[in-house]
Amino acid sequence: MAILNCSVECRPFDPHFLINNAVSNVICSLVYGERFDYDNKKFQRLLHFFEQALNEEGGFLPQLLIVVPWLLRIPGVPQSVFRAQKEVLDFTDELVKEHRTTWNPTHTRDFTDAFLQEIEKAKEHAGSSFNDNNLRMVTVDLFTAGTETTSTTLRWALLYMLLHPDIQCKVHEEIDKVIGRDRSPQMEDLANMPYTNAVIYETQRYGDIFPVGVPHMTYRDTELQGFFIPKGTTVITNLSSVLKDETVWEKPHQFYPEHFLDADGQFVKREAFLPFSAGRRVCLGEQLARMELFLFFTSLLQHFTFRLPEGQARPREVGRFAATLTPHPYQIQAVPR
Ligand code: HEM
Repeated sequence: MAILNCSVECRPFDPHFLINNAVSNVICSLVYGERFDYDNKKFQRLLHFFEQALNEEGGFLPQLLIVVPWLLRIPGVPQSVFRAQKEVLDFTDELVKEHRTTWNPTHTRDFTDAFLQEIEKAKEHAGSSFNDNNLRMVTVDLFTAGTETTSTTLRWALLYMLLHPDIQCKVHEEIDKVIGRDRSPQMEDLANMPYTNAVIYETQRYGDIFPVGVPHMTYRDTELQGFFIPKGTTVITNLSSVLKDETVWEKPHQFYPEHFLDADGQFVKREAFLPFSAGRRVCLGEQLARMELFLFFTSLLQHFTFRLPEGQARPREVGRFAATLTPHPYQIQAVPR
């Protein structure tokens, strides 16, 4: 492995900004058909508002509203609790407005175009859910659901590579064997990379970014395993209880990629692996997230060895909770391979 002179490239940095920008650009490409440069002020404003909105959601008042949702009916409460969310919606309106000026109904460029087309069709059907308000809400949903989640998982992945250089080394070996250094990773490579796949799955299991799922409400009286749950009850799944189930996982409280490998080193799926939740409200972006995690992670490790900057204390493995469970900020050194 070629270790280059560590002057500029190896300066310690917090990977949050770069990863967040890269992942957000995937959603921007899907929704608006364009990616933004990292110094684009408009793009940075969007990311800033999203981060604020997510921090807002993890705060005390929003959590209280989950338990007592009728408080939202009090005039002024939603606006004062979710201030940044309003900024995000206004910002999205601005982008959709721009989009409309260049919209050509015969040529669908992206998600916004496809939705605008549905809005046109829906004009003949009263009560359709394809309308301007839903376009802005769905766009915000896609950003909220599809950026922080993947970005946080990738930050956990890099952190675990710092903390477990032996595992990082095995990923490097597999990348070198299957992909080499001269071409970019492709989804087809995944089938031949059981170890890397296991590391990504274990990152999701151990990182446990959604310890508690999204709140839902029962729409009718229900009975579950002998418990009666009346209509209108807020139900929150405990995904952590499955991902860290001591009766299922060999080493539930350790980072152990072997959870997803059989005796021959082949990848095995596990029933208790539910970071995307389950059932009718399961994550709709799982396939996209899988691709992003694999392609970003292998591309980064193909080009760099990640290590702790000298003298830096070992970063904490315990996360902090703000809508998702994220790693505490940490510094990293990326040594070109
Ligand atoms: C590692 C990445 C991701 C994780 C761990 C994750 C996890 C989750 C979880 C736990 C839920 C809640 C399911 C429930 O209500 O029980 C959810 C919902 C959702 N996710 Fe993801 N997600 C990820 C990435 C994405 C991406 C990339 C997108 C799309 C751009 C996305 C779109 C959605 C949507 C639209 C929902 C709401 C589904 C519904 O309520 O019907 N997610 N996700």
